[in-house]
Amino acid sequence: MKFPFRPIRIAESTRQSTQIVPPRRSRQAMPYQLPPDPAKSAYVRTRFDAIAHRYDLFNDLITQGQHRRWKRVLIQRLKLQKGARVLDLCCGTGDIALRCATRLGGQGQVVGLDFSPNMLRIAATRRASSGVEESIGFISGDAMALPFRANEFDAVTIGYGLRNVADIGVCLAEVVRVLKPGGMLASLDVGKTRPILLRPLVAFYFFRIVPLIGRLLLPGEEMFSYLPHSSVGYPHQDRLVEILAAHGFTHVELVEFLGGASVIHIARKAGPL
Ligand SMILES: C[S@@+](CC[C@H](N)C(=O)[O-])C[C@H]1O[C@@H](n2cnc3c(N)ncnc32)[C@H](O)[C@@H]1O
Repeated sequence: MKFPFRPIRIAESTRQSTQIVPPRRSRQAMPYQLPPDPAKSAYVRTRFDAIAHRYDLFNDLITQGQHRRWKRVLIQRLKLQKGARVLDLCCGTGDIALRCATRLGGQGQVVGLDFSPNMLRIAATRRASSGVEESIGFISGDAMALPFRANEFDAVTIGYGLRNVADIGVCLAEVVRVLKPGGMLASLDVGKTRPILLRPLVAFYFFRIVPLIGRLLLPGEEMFSYLPHSSVGYPHQDRLVEILAAHGFTHVELVEFLGGASVIHIARKAGPL
């Protein structure tokens, strides 16, 4: 397996200028405050639990179904081999885990991990009718303190999860620990839009349209304001390449969609394949 390592160096000023900031009017109209770091995990668990039954529909609506294509690309890029052991972190309703198990044709083992009981309940229901239920399991756990031994997995996936964990560094250290040497990490999340002209449009969509869609699905639910705000402090995709390298990953690849608004990071844990 060969990946070109493309270290991307960017000036600090460039990083700043590509941040998506809430449009001015939305800051007035929506005085939302992100939870402070020590409270983030509990907040994220409670709020995802509250929206679990609407999460898949919400995801389909806000991405116009495109998250399905992005997840397909993520799994293609992983090049999973039959018999592989895969861990899907922050699995939610199990979408990526189920796709991995289907891709492996039941010849492998997939574990989905999340700390939201309601998300896991939906994942278990989907598993029951998946046709690959023997090769997939869902467990409750914290992505920052994984209940696995070192070097257990050939691949770790994480969809819209790194942005939500309380400490990205702690989570990545755990991913490195449980991956076999040469094992692969694939993360799908939001990114910073590169074309300058698109940025106000994307900010408007993230901060005005996304919460509106959310509130139509679940009136009064503040999680739909958390989601766009959580993207502001999330590292630029180029910075995340550097963070992954600093955590012992090599061959870090970046795949971008919609001008960088949606990104996949693929990286390999140092060591033999
Ligand atoms: C946006 S959802 C992503 C669901 C799914 N991966 C997908 O691609 O659609 C984020 C999920 O991360 C979970 N999560 C956030 N922080 C977590 C942590 N520290 N440990 C376990 N799960 C976590 C939440 O409970 C939620 O289900």
